[in-house]
Amino acid sequence: MTRPSAPTKNKGPGMEQRPGFVLRERRRGLFRCGATSALHCEDIPLAKLAERYGTPLYVYSATAILERLAAFEHAFDRVPHTICYSVKANSNINILRLLAREGCGFDVVSGGELERVLVADRHAAGKIVFSGVGKSREEMTAALKAGILLFNVESESELWALAECAIRSRREARIALRVNPDVAAETHPYISTGLRKHKFGVPIRSARELYAKASAARYLKVSGVSVHIGSQITEVAPFAEAVDRVAALVRELRADGHRIDYVDTGGGLGIDYQEPAPDFSDCVARYARAVTNPLRGLKVHLLLEPGRAIVGPAGALLTSVIYRKENGGKHFLVVDAAMNDLIRPALYGAYHEIVPVVRAKNSTAKKETVDVVGPVCESGDFFARDRELPRVEEGDLLAILDTGAYGMALASNYNTRPRPAEILVRGKSAKVIRRREKARELYSPEL
Ligand code: LLP
Repeated sequence: MTRPSAPTKNKGPGMEQRPGFVLRERRRGLFRCGATSALHCEDIPLAKLAERYGTPLYVYSATAILERLAAFEHAFDRVPHTICYSVKANSNINILRLLAREGCGFDVVSGGELERVLVADRHAAGKIVFSGVGKSREEMTAALKAGILLFNVESESELWALAECAIRSRREARIALRVNPDVAAETHPYISTGLRKHKFGVPIRSARELYAKASAARYLKVSGVSVHIGSQITEVAPFAEAVDRVAALVRELRADGHRIDYVDTGGGLGIDYQEPAPDFSDCVARYARAVTNPLRGLKVHLLLEPGRAIVGPAGALLTSVIYRKENGGKHFLVVDAAMNDLIRPALYGAYHEIVPVVRAKNSTAKKETVDVVGPVCESGDFFARDRELPRVEEGDLLAILDTGAYGMALASNYNTRPRPAEILVRGKSAKVIRRREKARELYSPEL
């Protein structure tokens, strides 16, 4: 995603022989192009969903989400572990419920996320970790009451605030310090977190001192070490390096007499937005080796906080072309989704593949270079720039792919635009998991 919204690669004349989505079909098997050249989510044509529920519309494949969770479970099955899905990536309660039913735990970063998880599964508390650099006392107290598994504490001030809340509510708080390992991760600077200059965690060098203080505090129970170096990291080496440093710290802490049961290695495993990995299981297996090798022999319970890797490729944003437009030789497709619905291209220059939902069977369909833009009054409101796409007409549908993570979760009501509905597909069934907002709901708190 660090790559700018560059023109798509020339896929060569071979590609011209095939319908546009065959590659994607083979790779993920869910958003696929059938004989009619219509993009489907599982067994349902996306065009049908758009017709029924309108656009812009987020569509998710339940099977894809479950398969990706299963790939994680499988990759880590040789070590004691809990997958704590990072709720911020996509916090729809129905998706949380889907994951909870598979025994998944959760990583939350706010009182709101904690509430969502408990609504999705009221027995989830024992598998919840609470991360974040600015937890309020109210949030920490709510988490103590719920009886969550672990607080990932990020500063000395937070440690004392938590101790105070724990004493007041007479509940013991299991804690890990989130250490900042000073490891560089190749990703967008906004989502890199593991360097000294970042606001996250406590410097790994001063961690021992803080652990000593924590262990002396009543109602705080030192239980683990946590680390998270950033998001959308597609190389495994930085993970290995960070966990290596954590493993050394665990040994020191144990020598100091602390009981370290848990190591939380955070999230951050990236996905390929341009060329989806042919085999996700291989990719998770490589990641699992990087994370587990340094911990060998330590007998810790591993906590993992993947977000994007679970839900990212399982979602698409459907949008309709409102207008075709030409300005000074440049061609624009003005679509009905906008930066308020999906902000990643505007915020990070993120690349998302865009494909027509219905393709002409004729594979020689004309291509054109266009900017795909939304109706919001900002030039930053684009989904693609100078992108080569098959020609589409006003009223046609496009699917913006790999938008299951940090799509709806980052959506806003800018320009008083109601947020899209969300649909969860499983086989032949489609469920509205969030209805479309109405403009009145947006301004009624002001009346
Ligand atoms: N754990 C912690 C402590 C985190 O801060 C994050 C993400 C995760 C886990 C999950 O990371 P993942 O597995 O999803 O990479 N809005 C950005 C991504 C922000 C990520 C923030 N923290 C985007 O759209 O790319």
